[in-house]
Amino acid sequence: MAITNGNSDKERLIVFDTSLRDGEQSPGVSLNTDEKIEIAKQLSRLGVDVIEAGFPIASVGDFEAVQRIAREVGSLMEGREHIGEPMTICGLARSTPGDIKRCAEAIQDAPNRRIHVFLATSDIHLKHKLKIDREECVKRAVAAVTLARSFVPQVEFSPEDASRSDPDFLCEVLGKVIEAGATTLNIPDTVGYNLPEEYGALIKHLVENTPGGDKVTWSTHCHNDLGLATANTLSGIRNGARQVEVTINGIGERAGNTAMEEIVMAIHTHPTAFPVYHNINTRLIFPTSVMVSELSGMMVQPNKAIVGRNAFLHESGIHQDGVLKNRQTYEIISAESVGVTDIALVLGKHSGRNAFRERCKELGFAAINDEEFQKAFVDFKNLCDKKKNVNDEDILNILNSIQTVPSK
Ligand code: KIV
Ligand code: ZN
Repeated sequence: MAITNGNSDKERLIVFDTSLRDGEQSPGVSLNTDEKIEIAKQLSRLGVDVIEAGFPIASVGDFEAVQRIAREVGSLMEGREHIGEPMTICGLARSTPGDIKRCAEAIQDAPNRRIHVFLATSDIHLKHKLKIDREECVKRAVAAVTLARSFVPQVEFSPEDASRSDPDFLCEVLGKVIEAGATTLNIPDTVGYNLPEEYGALIKHLVENTPGGDKVTWSTHCHNDLGLATANTLSGIRNGARQVEVTINGIGERAGNTAMEEIVMAIHTHPTAFPVYHNINTRLIFPTSVMVSELSGMMVQPNKAIVGRNAFLHESGIHQDGVLKNRQTYEIISAESVGVTDIALVLGKHSGRNAFRERCKELGFAAINDEEFQKAFVDFKNLCDKKKNVNDEDILNILNSIQTVPSK
């Protein structure tokens, strides 16, 4: 049974995963096609709505990976019964005919398919990178969207570096691409520059002032250069965005993209703050994180929110005592709800008597008397001062050294 956050009187939030495109742009990450297929299948089971499978013009390997995902994953329904349709397979294209045609060819076998075209709109990019003026930018964007729409019914347009673009110029370009047939407008904070209030205000401004803005889906795409990708994305949702572009574990170019698990669980823990529901099966979040980490070679930092090794571990005595009495004292999310099943209390120098007594019981020393327990606890604390990680073997040595007979 899928675990989602329900959907009564809420709008659907489309979860667009770009782990295989922007995520693969993480320095040092390169996935082969079989690995990409494995991840794509898992994202389908997880309940992702749209997967950006790659950038088909980038290389023959990328084209073939997107094509195989369209063919082999594009119709899968396993785990998606609650959604009622397979994932949309999306490919990225620059605003050039060659890119768009190649992308259309790569995704053509998927029943639900989308072309995502992008073109920079900030003056910095127009002047220094593309060497074109605003008028030419509008012309190229409209031509790209028109061509993409001739191949597929779903066309997404991204004004690259939107967060550093003139908002009034953005309204002009976006209004024109809506007329040309764009169905989703994605607003990238390409360089991770915005503060949450600014990004939210930008989304609100664009939704309210772009001609035809009420006919399309607005999307967030935030990078994490200032560690604000999740906050910015949530601010985007609160201001009208109904699609979020995310990656598993937050992998991506430079400091990465918005982490899917953080958005999904923020919505879960604050159901009244967000007027949206999603279709992600949260119990598959941790297994998916492990798979992406292992295949991509990108380790997850231990204190990473939701999926880090320490995310559900409590070390201090006060916290351990609290969770032994009632887990809600120090946990806002249950480990099981995101698919983490093997949680143990970590014993260290901050641990208290209650946690130590629990571990003694687990190790078969339930019948230890008070005097023996006191001595074992002192020995344990002394060892913690000398040794960073005190494990079960160390505790067993202490318990055995005080000559206690394990209880039956
Ligand atoms: O960050 C960005 O601007 C992108 C675009 C291609 C959408 O990844
Ligand atoms: Zn990006």
